Amino acid sequence: MTEAQTLDTDNPKAMEVFDDVHGNLPREGPGNRSCTQRALTLAADTVPPDARVLDIACGPGMQTLDLATRWPSATIDAVDRHPSYVAEAKRRVAAAGFSERIEVSRANMRALPFEPLSFDLIWCEGAAYIMGVEEALLAWHPLLKRGGVLAFSEAVWLRDDPPADLRDFWTDGYPDMSDVEHCRELVVKCGYRLVGDFVLPEAAWWDDYYLPMEERIKSLVSKYGGASLSMHALNECQREIDLYRSFADFYGYVFVVARAGEPAMPVSGRPTN
Ligand SMILES: C[S@@+](CC[C@H](N)C(=O)[O-])C[C@H]1O[C@@H](n2cnc3c(N)ncnc32)[C@H](O)[C@@H]1O
Repeated sequence: MTEAQTLDTDNPKAMEVFDDVHGNLPREGPGNRSCTQRALTLAADTVPPDARVLDIACGPGMQTLDLATRWPSATIDAVDRHPSYVAEAKRRVAAAGFSERIEVSRANMRALPFEPLSFDLIWCEGAAYIMGVEEALLAWHPLLKRGGVLAFSEAVWLRDDPPADLRDFWTDGYPDMSDVEHCRELVVKCGYRLVGDFVLPEAAWWDDYYLPMEERIKSLVSKYGGASLSMHALNECQREIDLYRSFADFYGYVFVVARAGEPAMPVSGRPTN
């Protein structure tokens, strides 16, 4: 799911539609193999071959497998809160023969069960927004070893003149959406040095995410035909896709790679690691 999709977890119908639309997609947000590789290349200089890696909000695990493939001696903890994604990621990890090196478990990104200074690399594609980018950058900094690298992707405005329909849709789902410059500023504010960033190409929204989702939506119309609550939820998913089809110039995802520098200073003024 992207930031634009607000999930009504108290509404069983909305949850059923969400599970039907999202279950078993190749991935759960914009991104693709070449973007993961490109971000890894930015990180590569200082991440050791036997790196310990944490993939936060791994979803069904597409980028987890890419990380393991690119770093054949790394060990990876992959966590997600949603039990069905954890199960699917475990299944894919086993099928790829990576069970020895990748541990998939259920965990909340707000309270990660790891010791400080544990990781050479923390990865988070399309999910830092869940706790807020600034909060995430501060909370995860202590988990990195000195000089460790954080890579995350985040939805951003690419232009400041979006059409009203688009602005309203995204402001409703993700009022804190900012721009690339703001992400860079947060990185520095939170005690990291920017290594590099790039905006994901449009293909990264379509190939492994929106196109499979659109096929799924089409196949569900007959299942839900006539049920207005379910059709409303389905139409909202389609609307997000249609808006991107019309207005991809106005917003996108930035992939940011940053190195932990001085410990971030929390409000109390004491270092966090
Ligand atoms: C946009 S998806 C990204 C998934 C994956 N990184 C990808 O790109 O395919 C966001 C993910 O965050 C997970 N998530 C939501 N809240 C979470 C939390 N509090 N802690 C951990 N994971 C969470 C969701 O289950 C979902 O898998």
